[in-house]
Amino acid sequence: MADSSAAGERYDRMELLKAFDETKAGVKGLNDAGVLKLPQIFVRPSEELTEELKHEKAQVQVPVIDLSGIDDGGMRKKIVEQVRSAAETWGFFQLVSHGIPLSVCDGMIDGVRRFHELDVDKKKKYYSRDATESVRYSSNFDLFKSKTAGWRDTLSISANSGSQLLDPHQLPAVCRDSTVEYSKHVEKLGNILLGLLSEALGLNTDFLGKMECSKGHRLHCHYYPACPEPQLAIGTTKHSDPGFLTILLQNQLVSALQVFNKGRWIDIQPVQGALVINIGDLLQLVSNGKFRSSEHRVIANRIGPRISVVCFLSGPFGNTGKIYGPILELITQENPAIYKEIVIEDYLMKFLNTGLDSYRALDYYKV
Ligand code: OGA
Ligand code: NI
Repeated sequence: MADSSAAGERYDRMELLKAFDETKAGVKGLNDAGVLKLPQIFVRPSEELTEELKHEKAQVQVPVIDLSGIDDGGMRKKIVEQVRSAAETWGFFQLVSHGIPLSVCDGMIDGVRRFHELDVDKKKKYYSRDATESVRYSSNFDLFKSKTAGWRDTLSISANSGSQLLDPHQLPAVCRDSTVEYSKHVEKLGNILLGLLSEALGLNTDFLGKMECSKGHRLHCHYYPACPEPQLAIGTTKHSDPGFLTILLQNQLVSALQVFNKGRWIDIQPVQGALVINIGDLLQLVSNGKFRSSEHRVIANRIGPRISVVCFLSGPFGNTGKIYGPILELITQENPAIYKEIVIEDYLMKFLNTGLDSYRALDYYKV
């Protein structure tokens, strides 16, 4: 008989989560087994599903910014202005003519697909929940913390500046070369974007770069299999990103990423060849709230697999003790600091140790 008490439900759920985790086959494994009914751990709470029906659909799009002409003085000014406006109002924009060749982007997506589609026996050895490992695969980093498990698996790769810390041989062979190549390009683009964002704050081009915002980057290579009951599930629960800046590459299959803006969920429809850029919590903090780190999520779909490669520019890794706070140049008597200083590792731990959609780590650091 099912125990309907709250404690009983929690207990059952924990057992189910453990059993799922131990398969090391992820959501892809359920999909391969031909599961037709969404397993309980993936079903969103009924109050959330009811709430969902109240949301109106809005037909607006986040801005699309074109980087061509970025080295021409007049054009650059216009681009900086577009970036400033998007960062202040949406915290999101799509980017075209970003300089990463299509072949490199396609190669990266293809490598990620090949990794996730390996036999479980070959993938298993990478399965881990130890956040200190540079290369690891798991389903839902927050599996044991969030209310609902997401319909996705992830290969996570941490690389420090110039990919120095990461020995390519640690990477699975099926996506080794493509990841090394993409990583180089995405880091370069990250620095270009930090230059534009620095200028958008009225600071020197190299300001955010010198603060080491792009010292470390982390790639989360997600695989969202086709879902048998998408209306009950979620791909990635609502959250904001903890780092400074996020650069997202996605395959063009379905529109699944959504940003929360003015009380509505807005679809971020894939634009051919575009990357999606969003501001993270730490950039909201150092910009003293001028730039917005917006909450977003990924819905589940009957069609799959959707693949996304999310690059977080997260600042230096390890126990650096590095402190970040609102940039002094931006603080005046009329515009006092609204956030406290943080030690970067403490901030990240706060994020990792709370489930998605519980509260925003950033709110802890308000003055
Ligand atoms: C994330 C994220 C979106 C996606 O990993 O933080 O928001 O499209 N991913 O996979
Ligand atoms: Ni995110």
